[in-house]
Amino acid sequence: MSTSELAIDVQGVTRIFESRKGFLFREISRTEALRGVDLQVERGAIFGLLGPNGAGKTTLTKILSTLLLPTSGTVRVLGHDVVGDVAWLRPRMGLVLGGERGLYNRISGRENLRYFADLYGVPLRERDARIAEVLARVDLTWAADRRVEEYSRGMKQKLHIARGILHRPQILFLDEPTIGLDPKSARETRKLVRSLVADGVTIFLTTHYMFEAEELCPRIAILSKGRIVAQDSVSKLRELVGGDRTFEAEGYGFDDRELETLRRLPGVSKIVTEEFGPVLRLTLRVRTGELQPDDVRRTLASHEEVSVRERRTSLEDVYLDLVEEEAN
Ligand SMILES: Nc1ncnc2c1ncn2[C@@H]1O[C@H](COP(=O)(O)OP(=O)(O)O)[C@@H](O)[C@H]1O
Ligand SMILES: [Mg+2]
Repeated sequence: MSTSELAIDVQGVTRIFESRKGFLFREISRTEALRGVDLQVERGAIFGLLGPNGAGKTTLTKILSTLLLPTSGTVRVLGHDVVGDVAWLRPRMGLVLGGERGLYNRISGRENLRYFADLYGVPLRERDARIAEVLARVDLTWAADRRVEEYSRGMKQKLHIARGILHRPQILFLDEPTIGLDPKSARETRKLVRSLVADGVTIFLTTHYMFEAEELCPRIAILSKGRIVAQDSVSKLRELVGGDRTFEAEGYGFDDRELETLRRLPGVSKIVTEEFGPVLRLTLRVRTGELQPDDVRRTLASHEEVSVRERRTSLEDVYLDLVEEEAN
């Protein structure tokens, strides 16, 4: 992959926040929000950045979209440096930080978009047609002339996205686009995101919802405490944590010898043990192959009330495994 094919190329990025607090602001608190991030995103797809609250997702999104400077490291977006080439980059990128802020409540959705079109330098001749187009795109034509204060949370989010694509950016940053939305609005937002990619827009999306990343993003990176702990396709990530099959066995009083026997079963790559009161749960990561839940049941046959079930390894399993390894 040549560098010019990359939509985003992040090398060794750190970001430290320093703020004063305490008596007469004499104490300085220091937060390392990003600790050496390397990230490569190809053009023309949805890339998902997944991580819990406080992982650094918004900080990275703001650096990528030129709103915030990195403390160190280099960032290129569409082949251009986010520190040096701001004037070239800004018209080519869209940013949707979401939430309630950034919209004018007293005027209509259409009037909001007129304001932003002028701000982004959309030619006046094209303005109203362009606005009608993005309103249709996000399915808000019917409410275009209502005041934004009458909009639901989901409608506001659609208007945010309309604003983000008004100037036809090549790359769109969406920071937690479905947070706080009801399930129906969240689903409509995901559908809209998918339709934008079909037009060739590169989308960089952050989320802390595993299923959302799994559903939308062919490739994802997992951010934990300011570090990327993995970046790959979801199926490669399943391999990385030892297999795409997961068996869960629950029961009472399994002993070390039995655990050892399970570990030696062909295909078993890893076993995690959890206690829920008196109940023990064994989670077995299993590679594609012949092993069946019955083989596990036989090993644990001396115990009563053992349940064993198989499911597909989820992105959540992958995430927990990787974040756990990082902590150890
Ligand atoms: N302006 C700021 N000043 C000080 N600390 C900040 C600031 N912005 C973010 N942080 C801290 O940086 C870390 C990462 O925050 P953020 O990027 O918002 O994470 P996320 O979006 O993944 O929830 C957190 O510990 C947060 O408190
Ligand atoms: Mg955030």
